[in-house]
This record gives sequence, structure tokens and C-alpha cells, in this order.
Amino acid sequence: MVYDVTMLEAFYAAYKGKVEHVRAILKRPLTLAEKILYAHLYDVADLKDYKRGEDYVNFRPDRVAMQDATAQMALLQFMNAGKDQVAVPSTVHCDHLIQAYKGAKADIATARLTNEEVYDFLRDVSSRYGIGFWKPGAGIIHQVVLENYAFPGGMMVGTDSHTPNAGGLGMVAIGVGGADAVDVMTGMEWELKMPKIIGVRLTGKLSGWTSPKDVILKLAGILTVKGGTNAIIEYFGPGTESLSATGKATICNMGAEVGATTSLFPFDGRMAAYLRATGRDCVVDWAEAVDADLRADDVVTDEPSNYYDRVIEIDLSELEPYINGPFTPDAATPISEFAEKVLLNGYPRKMEVGLIGSCTNSSYQDLSRAASLAKQVTEKNLSVAAPLIINPGSEQIRATAERDGMIEAFEQLGATIMANACGPCIGQWKRETDDPTRKNSIVTSFNRNFAKRADGNPNTYAFVASPELTMALTIAGDLCFNPLKDRLVNHDGEKVKLSEPVGDELPLKGFTSGNEGYIAPHGAKTEIKVKPDSQRLQLLTPFPAWDGQDLLNMPLLIKAQGKCTTDHISMAGPWLRFRGHLENISDNMLMGAVNAFNGETNSVWNRSTNTYGTVSGTAKMYKSEGIPSIVVAEENYGEGSSREHAAMEPRFLNVRVILAKSFARIHETNLKKQGMLALTFVDKADYDKVQEHDLLSVVGLVHFAPGRNLTIVLHHEDGTKESFEVQHTYNEQQIAWFRAGSALNAR
Ligand code: F3S
Repeated sequence: MVYDVTMLEAFYAAYKGKVEHVRAILKRPLTLAEKILYAHLYDVADLKDYKRGEDYVNFRPDRVAMQDATAQMALLQFMNAGKDQVAVPSTVHCDHLIQAYKGAKADIATARLTNEEVYDFLRDVSSRYGIGFWKPGAGIIHQVVLENYAFPGGMMVGTDSHTPNAGGLGMVAIGVGGADAVDVMTGMEWELKMPKIIGVRLTGKLSGWTSPKDVILKLAGILTVKGGTNAIIEYFGPGTESLSATGKATICNMGAEVGATTSLFPFDGRMAAYLRATGRDCVVDWAEAVDADLRADDVVTDEPSNYYDRVIEIDLSELEPYINGPFTPDAATPISEFAEKVLLNGYPRKMEVGLIGSCTNSSYQDLSRAASLAKQVTEKNLSVAAPLIINPGSEQIRATAERDGMIEAFEQLGATIMANACGPCIGQWKRETDDPTRKNSIVTSFNRNFAKRADGNPNTYAFVASPELTMALTIAGDLCFNPLKDRLVNHDGEKVKLSEPVGDELPLKGFTSGNEGYIAPHGAKTEIKVKPDSQRLQLLTPFPAWDGQDLLNMPLLIKAQGKCTTDHISMAGPWLRFRGHLENISDNMLMGAVNAFNGETNSVWNRSTNTYGTVSGTAKMYKSEGIPSIVVAEENYGEGSSREHAAMEPRFLNVRVILAKSFARIHETNLKKQGMLALTFVDKADYDKVQEHDLLSVVGLVHFAPGRNLTIVLHHEDGTKESFEVQHTYNEQQIAWFRAGSALNAR
């Protein structure tokens, strides 16, 4: 057993009383999200009816989870906090650094060699400070959290944007940067703007080819990549009970793709079944005792428009399978319209690789339904047209799937079974291709499909779909194939149809190999080593405090055009190896962002040399000359992952300001925590006024205050000036972080 029973028992013993107290003070019906959030206030004396979308609130989450790529920076910061022990149960999961190439065994062996220094560091820091450590190959953070740690009514933060996966077990689970995780691990208050709440009412029942993934693929099309920003998506209605706990987790996981703070389902029998199957009967008993407060009040669900900020209805019985993409997860198309879209837009029709698994879709139910299709290849005398890659979410899932014949079914199609790790989902795919300049299509059951995300190739058109649809398209090898109506020609020349996928929600014989790969902490005696000449790890030096002056005459480093996700700002893939070394990883800064003036990536004008150079090289030169710089960007800047490197790199290279049309939530917080200025245009048309050779000043910082706009002055090359107002969302505390140079400095 790896979870803390005493903590959980105490949590449920207190939960009902806390919610009753909230109700007594607020004197109104409560959504589920509100019950959980208010039950986790840092100080109950602060209890009042907070304004959603406006008020900052201090919380006390129950747990922290960190994946290896973000844990390095989080733990380097934690080490500077002067604590002996983490204040709440915390875990580290080694999942991002394993490259997917030849298959699980060989790839893990390679990863152990190439990442030895980092794994040893993470293991030793974990051991020293009381953090549970999951070794490489043990599983992907969110799957391991679901199997072991998530619990209904709980609240956790995780240094990964898909932390909301745990909402499948009724937990408020929020993706954050490492500095936020440090707040929680040191026992400090953790601040969040009280989210708005979007209610999604589910009715009906899934059937046939439709899967839980399709709920969120459809919703992504409705909300778009920024429609959930600063909001919790709370599901309710009779349809919720027709979804397995792992299906709910898939839906919550991908809420990150619409920018939602988190997503959440009410506690029900399907969650209870999953908790029991994963060895947590006591959690079920405790949760059942308070189950009325592990769902929204009846009045709320009866009159949802009175209590949610927005209500969306989805009838599961009417839902079609969806395919979303390419290049953005909100380009949602039902399968019935997809072939036409492929032809109309000239997407490469040949489906070249199918990838099933990841933290999003590797449950027992997912794999068993996909395997039921794989088995039909032999049964119906078909062949499989495209290569298949499987990356299971955890060793528990892999071992159980192997015992129950699913792995064999995939292998019979020639599938490569990769490590229980992120692999191709995070650019850690050493893909062999005949010609990387050729446009090509892949379909994955993952969650994110930004350009270059899977294999680093901008010519790869990645589409996301359910595991079932991914499997069917892999068999057909054709993006225009619709398994609901189309037939395939088998080796006998007969036209055959794939039967609808079937599978078990949970293994009839139970799960196997549960806690393999877990190392419990040993305490204060563990020695932590960081070599001074290490290329992978670097101890942190605090950022300098603000000098009390306005930021004057900053060269424009880049005016980014279009989408600028955390992948564009701090690319993953091969760069993951520098996630513990701020100086080295800063060499990738903004290399994926498109320069609005020349349409190129990683090519910006350097005023010191009057030539074009890389973004990081140019910033580095300005830094060496003592010159701060500024980045200008468009909508939803920093969309995507929680990686705080995307904020720390510019800070390290003396970029002081990001001025955007809008920000993604996690990234905006990360910028604030690292002492940067995150400003937005009051009038978005002012973006067009910024010229390539401008110097920009931020005026008004001496009076920097919540709700008070600042002024940007553009000094054009021809000697003229223009100015306009910019706004910000800093509160007093966040302004103190800016003044101190970072949140860590302000402790
Ligand atoms: Fe890993 Fe991809 Fe999930 S990177 S944590 S499998 S979103």
C-alpha cells in the first residue's frame, strides 16, 4: 500500500463538517467544485462567498504529484526553501524522460543509462524529503495517481497540465508550475483565482463505437482551446453514471486542452468499483458515508443555469465518435464528416502510424476495446495497414493486459509495446521515417496534437481520437475510413465490416503487479549530489530583485504570431534532458515561435549586431550587455503544459515582460511566480502597432497596484512614439513577487 490511510481517514472524518460549515456561512446551494474548494481553504477564518473569476483564494491541497521533467526544477526550488520534510504527501514519477524507440525493455535500459544522473537526483531528493518515488517504467504520473492516490472530495496539485485526470475519481486536481508545488510542499498557502464553473450535463448512454474520449473531443470543439480558462468543468446529470471511472478520467484529463483549471465528476458506483478494484475498499466506505457532499446539491443540478456560469448539454446517446486535429485539439470533426474534411483540406490521406495509450487512454477498458478490434484482423482474414504503437499507462495496466491476452493481440498485428511512459506523447519518439519532409498523418489516442509534439516533425499531421477509432484507422491505413459504415477487403477478396468494439471496464480476475517500481522515502540521512560541471542539473541562483525603476527602452525580442504554446516556448523532445539545468535549456527559448515580421521560427532581428539570430542567442547577447528585453504575443500565450521552464528561461535570459493578447492560466501564474511581468493589451489592435525595430518601455511600475493599468511606450525607429494602456491581473502578493524578483525570493 502506497497511500496514506491515516490521512484519508482524517480527511473524510472532517469533510462533512467542513461542507456543513460552508453551507451555513454561504447560505446557498453548492456545486461539487465549491464543496471541495471551500473544504480546502487554507484558513477557515477566511471563509466567505468568493467571486468566481475575480477573487484570489488561498487553499491547502492534500497532495502533490510531480513528473520527472518538471520535478527537477520543482525540487531544486524546494531545496532552497529550508525545509526538512514535505508538508503533504508527495510523489515523483519517472515517465517523461524515456525515449520510445525499440520497445519497453531496451528503451528503459537506455533511459536508465542516459538519465542516470537525473534519476539518482530525483530518487535521493525524494528520499531525503519524504517524497514517494516511482521508478522509470512504473507508469505515467496520472495513471499511477489514479490507481493509488486520487480520492473523491480530495484536492491535489501536480506539476503537469493533465493532473485533472484525477477528476475521474471526483478529486479537484490542478496542474501547476513547480513553484506552486513548492508552496504546497512547504505547507504554505497555495493561491488560485476562484474559478468559474462550467456545468456539463450528460444524459443518455454511450454505445457502439462511441467512447468517453468523444465527450471531451466534442466539448473541445464547443469550448475551443481557451474556452475553459479559469474555469472548472463540472459534469453532472444521469449520463455521468454510465461512464466508467477511467472514462471519466479521460474526459477530465483532456479538459486541459480547453484550458480548464480542472474537471470533475460526482462520486458514484463506477468510481467505487474502480477504487475497490485498485485495493481501496476503505476509501469507498468513507466516501459512501459522505456521498451527498461528493456531488452537487440537488437544487444545483435541477436548476443548473442558476448556479453554473455556463451550462452545456451533451446527450451521450446521440454522440458520434470524433477525430480532432490536425495541429490543435479543438478542431473537432465527427467521424461522419471527417473523410470529406480530409479530402477538402488535402490532409495526407494515408494513415501512417497509429498510437494507443498515454495517460489519457490506457485504461483496462481502453485497451480491451482496442484489443477486441485487433483480434478481428485474424478472425476476419484482414491485414493491418499501418504500424501500431502501444504505450501503457502503468505497469499495473501493462501486466494485467498481458495476463489477459491484450498485449498478445496487439503484438500479433506487429505492434511495438513501448515503456509505460509518455514517449511519443511528449516528443520522445525516435521515429524512423523515409523522408521527414513528406507530409504524413498519424492518429493517436493521446490528448495533444500541436505541431512537432509527437515526433518533432512539422510535416506530421497528428489527429487525436479514441483508442477504438485509432485502432480501426490503423487497420484500414486510411484517414477516410469510417468503421461505422465502411467495409474493408480481406485476403479472400470479401468485403467485411469491423464489429463494434467490446471490452471489460475492469479486469474480471483483478489487477496484477500493483506497486512495482515504488520506492518509499528514507529520510534525512540521504545525501544529495549535484556535480558542479553537470550538463543535466544546475543548482538555482535567485533571480535579482526589481530595481524600483520603470523598464525603459527594451528591445523587442520577438513579436510572436499565432499559436504560441509552451511547446513553442520551451520545446520538449530532445530538450527534456536539460529540464534540471536552467542555463542549458534556455538555449531552446521560443525557438518554435513564429516571428511576425518574417514568418520564420527562431530568427529574430538583433539590434546589437543588426543581423538575424536565434531567439535565445539574441536574448543572451542583450543580457550580456545588461539590456532587458520584451516579448509580444497573441492569444492564449503559454497554452499547453505546466512547464515553468517556459517562464524561467525568459527570466533567466533577462526578458522582463511578456505582453500578450491573452494568457493561458498556468503559464500566466508561472510568469508571475518567476518575477516576470505578464501584461495584456487593453485594445488588442495595439498588437499591430509594435514594429520590429521598436524599443518598448513599461511606465507606471512605481505605482504598480492591483487593477491599475500600466502604460507601454513604443519608440519607433523613425523617432516617433506611440503609447497605449496595458492591463494585468496581479494582486498585492503577486506584485510583491515581482518586486522581490520571484515568489521564492519573497518567502
Ligand atoms: Fe505524459 Fe503525454 Fe500524459 S506527456 S503525462 S502521456 S499528456
